[in-house]
Parts: sequence; structure tokens; C-alpha cells
Amino acid sequence: MNYLFIKHIHITCAALSGSFFLLRGFWMLRESDLLQQRWVKVVPHVVDTLLLTSALIMVFWSGQYPFVQPWLTAKLLALIAYIGLGTIALKRGKTKAVRSWALLAAMTTFAYIVAVALTRQAMIPFQLFGIGF
Ligand code: HEM
Repeated sequence: MNYLFIKHIHITCAALSGSFFLLRGFWMLRESDLLQQRWVKVVPHVVDTLLLTSALIMVFWSGQYPFVQPWLTAKLLALIAYIGLGTIALKRGKTKAVRSWALLAAMTTFAYIVAVALTRQAMIPFQLFGIGF
């Protein structure tokens, strides 16, 4: 197993995690029973475990660590926020309005993680708008 192979697994899991979250968000908005299927609850855990495991392997193999490299700190903290917001959006949110806002916030957070991954810049949203950091 080489670094590139692990990176491919990581990127594939990232794409699966994001797409599957979108689908579940769509089902939540439509109040569909499809959201309650057993496999729909299990698959995201498998994908997210693989995503995080591949991330950890790359962290150790490349010697770039969160809380040392700002872009990795940003990814880790944003991942925690994404998971929390995702849980509110799909499960814990008491009203549909709360769940919908949490869904939007989770999707924005996911987009931020991808932008940070591609640019390795934690402040990328500010840089895009020309605000220097
Ligand atoms: C939803 C969560 C995540 C998404 C969507 C995501 C996405 C990505 C993507 C798209 C790449 C490829 C970037 C490129 O083309 O070079 C990447 C690489 C990487 N990610 Fe993640 N990632 C996530 C979580 C994490 C976490 C939590 C960590 C560790 C703290 C992490 C560590 C890494 C590392 C070390 C690389 C390899 C960089 C390199 O050597 O080129 N990722 N990630």
C-alpha cells in the first residue's frame, strides 16, 4: 500500500460522504421514510470511518500533523463541526426549520473542508474575497 493509494481511498470516501449526506438531506426535507432504512444509517459510519482512518494514515506517513499545520487543524475542527451539524440536520433538530438550517451549515462546512484540502489554506474563504490573512 502506498501513499497515493491511501489518498485515493480518502478522496473517494470524501466524495461518497458528501454525496450521501446530500441525499439524506434531500430525504429529510421531503420527510421520506427512506431515511429510516437500516443500511442508510450504517453505510455513512463505514464511509466516515474509512475517511478518518485514511486521513490518519496520511497524517503519520507525511509527518504533517493537526495543531502543527494550520490547514490540517482547520480540517479536523471543521470535520467535527460537520459531524455535529449533520447530526442536528438528520436527527436531533427539533423542528424542520432547525434541521434545514443545520443542513445548509453542514454543506457549507463540507465545501470549506474540500476547499482547504485542495489549497492547503485554512483562511481560503477570506482569501477568495480578497481579505488578506
Ligand atoms: C469531510 C472530511 C474531509 C474531506 C472532504 C477531505 C477531502 C480531502 C481531499 C479532496 C484531499 C485531496 C487533496 C488533493 O487533491 O491534494 C484530501 C487530502 C488529505 N486530507 Fe482530507 N478530507 C477530510 C478530512 C480530513 C481530516 C480530518 C484529515 C486529518 C486531520 C485529513 C487529512 C488529509 C491529508 C493529510 C491529505 C493529503 C494531502 C497530500 O499529501 O496531498 N483529511 N482530503
